[in-house]
Amino acid sequence: MRKRTALVTGGVGGIGSAICKDFLENGYTVIANYYPAEEKHAQEWLKKHQSGHEGRVFIVPGDVADFDSCVKMAEIIKKDHDFVDTLINCAGVTRDKTLRKMEPDMWNLVINIDLTGVYNVTKQFIDGMHDNEFGRIINISSVNGQKGQFGQTNYSAAKAGVHGFTMALAQEMSRKNVTVNTISPGYVETDMTVGQMNAEILDKIVGHVPMGRMARPEEVSYAVLALCDERASYISGTNLGVNGGFFMSF
Ligand code: CAA
Repeated sequence: MRKRTALVTGGVGGIGSAICKDFLENGYTVIANYYPAEEKHAQEWLKKHQSGHEGRVFIVPGDVADFDSCVKMAEIIKKDHDFVDTLINCAGVTRDKTLRKMEPDMWNLVINIDLTGVYNVTKQFIDGMHDNEFGRIINISSVNGQKGQFGQTNYSAAKAGVHGFTMALAQEMSRKNVTVNTISPGYVETDMTVGQMNAEILDKIVGHVPMGRMARPEEVSYAVLALCDERASYISGTNLGVNGGFFMSF
């Protein structure tokens, strides 16, 4: 089996951590990106995830919304790792409000991190995948990018845009054995939902999920791992929902 190295943006967050854990358990070398202001949390995360995986797990700072910061992040990574063959664009934020109350900073922050961030990071590693004629890119979108969500014009637009990016890049890279796919989770048990949403609103939304519950982060990471497998070589440009049937219920 080929040696695999994965970069996971937002790797120390809720879904990102589950993805890193699954990759580590499956023999990958894992580089977890974190927002520079979260250094302390990232160091604690590293300590927790190193045990049993010494020499295979790394953290790297980088603001995905800032192109120059991504250039620096890639320079750091390329010093120690020959080739990042697996890129998971997972960093994302929400700033929910109805459009009437949504200020430009709330719009710009979400677009810059959730959509432009995918360009900023992918741009650093795409030449390596092209030249090595192998790669797996997974962009984490959302069911709310597929169906829209009240109070999320910014996030729904960014996440829908992510899948457009996926489909275009999948066409550009197919002849080089680089697959590009989107995974669109539903509501997942993470700080972005349980930690930040009004509990009553969240309960109401989850009440419409056919499975009647939120996803566990590892249910999303399983899908990521499967699409990154070498055997998933003919799956490209697709959008895989991991939503407990929520999207079809609309
Ligand atoms: N559908 C229809 N009407 C609604 C509504 C809904 N879902 N929610 C609220 N309203 C109504 C309100 O009752 C209110 O009506 P009145 O003007 O008659 O009083 C009106 O719409 C405006 O409501 P608010 O003043 O409360 O709106 P707001 O601008 O303050 O925003 C909100 C409220 C923060 C958006 C809140 O509705 C909310 O949290 N919604 C859920 C957003 C959500 O699902 N976020 C997901 C975060 S997790 C994530 O994004 C991860 C992922 O990928 C799934």
